[in-house]
Amino acid sequence: MNFLTPRDVYFGWNSASVISRLKGKIAVITGKRVWKNVYEFLDINVEVYAMERKGTNGEPRQEDVDSVGEFLKEAKPEWIVAVGGGSVIDSAKLGWVKYENPTITWEQIYARDIPVLREKARFVAVETTSGTGTGISAAAVVADDKEIKHGIVSPLLIPDISIYDPNFVLSMPKSVAIFSGMDALTHAVESYVSNVDNIVADTISFKAIQVIFENIKSSAMGVEESRGLMHYASMMAAMGFTNSRLGLCHAAAHKIGGRYGIEHGKVNAILLPHFIRATEKYTERFNDIARMLGVEDLAHAVDELNRYFDIPQHIPELKSLETLAEEIMADPLMNYNPGKMSREEVIEFLEAVRGD
Ligand SMILES: [Fe+2]
Repeated sequence: MNFLTPRDVYFGWNSASVISRLKGKIAVITGKRVWKNVYEFLDINVEVYAMERKGTNGEPRQEDVDSVGEFLKEAKPEWIVAVGGGSVIDSAKLGWVKYENPTITWEQIYARDIPVLREKARFVAVETTSGTGTGISAAAVVADDKEIKHGIVSPLLIPDISIYDPNFVLSMPKSVAIFSGMDALTHAVESYVSNVDNIVADTISFKAIQVIFENIKSSAMGVEESRGLMHYASMMAAMGFTNSRLGLCHAAAHKIGGRYGIEHGKVNAILLPHFIRATEKYTERFNDIARMLGVEDLAHAVDELNRYFDIPQHIPELKSLETLAEEIMADPLMNYNPGKMSREEVIEFLEAVRGD
């Protein structure tokens, strides 16, 4: 067993000031909206690339990554500092891959065949939402020309330094606080119940579930302390899933979210109670969580949370459940699901999601 994690993890108010200690040329990759807090910490020798994404949905497109790669080839930094949400950090991670491997093709990247990283630069991630966990994880998601999402996972993609400074999430809109929080909750639950038995990762996920249940509502209302705790919990949940993985819920969320245009955190929030009901026969761990939270039934507790946030219980427009079930079963995440599910069971799960 091992526990993969960035070399350094900084969290806490003003923890982003560690950026000022970096030695060498720095390139900052950020979103269109520039986070001026970063600049307060940065001195000379900084080049900034503000992304204007081509992608219309949540994921960066190949062109977004290509332009980050071109910028890095010109700027030749020794440190890449990515400041943003999932799409900015994912673009920066893959732009870094292109910078270090100038002749690499997209086919190679999709096949997770990354020859080298860290020969030219090291990578710092500053997450500005509290959900995806890409600032700490080994994953990057990109959409190809046909809008098909590719999840690229490699331990090489784990940042060298991850920074979770709550100053960056104070201005997060309410809906982002809710959906990213529900995504983090799903990461924590799904990784805790997965069939990977990693006591370190599972302990972190377990605690993250508690912190999220205690803080998600007040964080949505903008309470600063809760915003901070949700930020740390999303980081913890990402440490959990990087090592204990995810299962049916995220496998289904990836297929359904893109096709039906439902935002990632929202689709996970809808699926989570159905995932719990579909898999609770395989593991005692949902009961551990319910006991820890002091609730009778975990699926019911998540239903209540969804109701509180006006998140629907079902996705009535789901179609072609057989094909969808097959696509979900082909997702590598299904290898880590708490139980091995048959095609029929996945279809039943989808029927429950549809509200049949
Ligand atoms: Fe997620």
